[in-house]
Amino acid sequence: MRRVFKIEGKHKLNGRVRVSGSKNATVALIPAAILSKEGPVTICDVPNISDVDCLTILLKELNIEVFQNAQGHLIIDPTNMKNTILEHNAVTKLRASYYFMGALLGKYKDVKIRMSGGCYLGPRPIDLHLKGFEALGATVDYDRGLYHIYADELIGDRIYLDIASVGATINIMMAAVYAKGRTIIDNAAKEPEIIDVATMLNKMGARIRGAGTATITIDGVESLTGCFHEIIPDRIEAGTFIIMAAAAGEDMVVENIIPQHLESLLSKLKEMNVDMEVNIDNVRIHGGNKLKAVDIQTQTYPGFATDLQQPLTALLTQAEGISTVRETIYAERFKHCPELNRMGANIIVNIPSSTIAGPTPLYGVEVTATDLRCGASLVAAALMADGVTTIYDIEHIERGYENLDGKLNALGAKMWKEEVE
Ligand code: EPU
Repeated sequence: MRRVFKIEGKHKLNGRVRVSGSKNATVALIPAAILSKEGPVTICDVPNISDVDCLTILLKELNIEVFQNAQGHLIIDPTNMKNTILEHNAVTKLRASYYFMGALLGKYKDVKIRMSGGCYLGPRPIDLHLKGFEALGATVDYDRGLYHIYADELIGDRIYLDIASVGATINIMMAAVYAKGRTIIDNAAKEPEIIDVATMLNKMGARIRGAGTATITIDGVESLTGCFHEIIPDRIEAGTFIIMAAAAGEDMVVENIIPQHLESLLSKLKEMNVDMEVNIDNVRIHGGNKLKAVDIQTQTYPGFATDLQQPLTALLTQAEGISTVRETIYAERFKHCPELNRMGANIIVNIPSSTIAGPTPLYGVEVTATDLRCGASLVAAALMADGVTTIYDIEHIERGYENLDGKLNALGAKMWKEEVE
């Protein structure tokens, strides 16, 4: 049996929707919490997504106590934790399980873990993470899918990242919090999720400066303790809802956002002629404007987010003229395009770019969510399509969007889950 989303299109969206805590921050904050040597870490606004379920399984494998309290906060208590091999299937279900490398290496100077999984967006190497660990004095062995990374001691060093990688920046930061002396990461990634992880680690007692800039300095400490931390809102979920509002909204407000995190998207939407009002912590969108084609090039933060390129492509099918999307982070992130074409779009992919000719009417057919943001793109298209769209492989969507069907239905969409052969 396969679970699908069915979406009857052309219902107008109205009302307010609240954005959840950031997925990409959460999946790093949970492994970071295990660095506490004294007391539990309490994390507020953890999204209810399957990536969190997988990380919870891995925490339990490490004999860490983890539960939700009455307020819905996630409590992670590593007091009795044991450093065991992480080879549970959950490791391969998400990419972010690799954050246990940095966290366990930092705390125990020894980690054994299977290779991580996640969305296929073309090759996703982790050479920069490993080089960073080696620079701190670790040895990396790899044998038949299992990494063993270990050191007698970790000593701070100056590490230049050839690519400003989000994952490598966070992983090295976690490994370095207990290293002797000072670690400096040059050409660090600047994404808001990195600031969020550094903020939590600093609350725990770490000494990290410069997160959010290209140079991050970490002075090693002896011990970290528990803390309370509230996750930043998910800028990608926020962007997805703003795009959906522009696609199918009448009068919609997307709440709990930090507009500064979305500047590149908001300015593109303005260029497209979307009617928006940007407030302190929400954006109000009036759909229905005639849209203009635009050109997009994905970049590291604060440039246009690769994660929003796919959902935006659905909206670009309704813009007058030829739009182009150039992908500079994941050259092969175009699996949504053939699916959108099945729905009536006119997209030509020429890796690492796509051109979208619009506007073209969309109609409901059977399509497949090949990865998380492809899924979001198909949902956005389905909201605009004539008839019912069936989306297969919705597990990908559930990995990263909390209660997407519930949130959209509350706005007036008609979307439901079904099990099919
Ligand atoms: N790269 C390397 N070597 C490395 C690490 C990265 O060559 O050791 C390359 C990658 O192949 C890619 C580029 O560097 O071409 C950037 O990758 P990065 O490491 O920044 O990405 P990531 O940490 O694997 C995170 C998000 C992604 C998001 C990217 C870019 C998480 C768990 N994932 O991935 O989110 O697309 O940053 O912003 O934080 C998603 O949410 O759908 C998603 C895929």
